[in-house]
Amino acid sequence: MPVSGWDEVDGGLERSWSFDDMAEAARCAQRIAVLCDEHDHHADVTFGWGHLKVRTTTHDAGHTVTGKDRALAEAVDALMAEASTSFRKHVFVCLHERPEGAQRPSCGRRGSTELMMALKRSAKAMGLGDVRVQKSGCLDRCEEGPSAVVYPEATWWTLPDDVEAAAALAEHLR
Ligand code: FES
Repeated sequence: MPVSGWDEVDGGLERSWSFDDMAEAARCAQRIAVLCDEHDHHADVTFGWGHLKVRTTTHDAGHTVTGKDRALAEAVDALMAEASTSFRKHVFVCLHERPEGAQRPSCGRRGSTELMMALKRSAKAMGLGDVRVQKSGCLDRCEEGPSAVVYPEATWWTLPDDVEAAAALAEHLR
């Protein structure tokens, strides 16, 4: 029986995830490794900047998919679902960039990528591991300046246009 969200490829189950950086992919890979030990069934886990892939097959059964793989795949799904909801706060920063000459301004053209990275680094330096700063598409506040929204409060920010001031906003994420 197939496992929802997983592809059966060459006698194994495979699934991939995307992230905003490498550190988060590595954290998830580490947790999956522990899960594999608990299941006594060891998947291939590969990751890099912004991506993570898991492949599980049962070697003893001639590299085919067995109940062990399905059970591990479901456990990995549960772990990833929990990981995606375990942040105390999420900051979504608009990186949308419109072409030059577009009618509306866009955050990407006002340096939002650099501002987001400054905020992200600052939150990390403050040890705010339970805060996720990530990119988003247009938040429809294009005329306000580089925009961000903080959840769960749904507080809207217009990011200051210098990197140090953007980094200082991390103080409000404690
Ligand atoms: S382009 Fe950023 S809010 Fe619209």
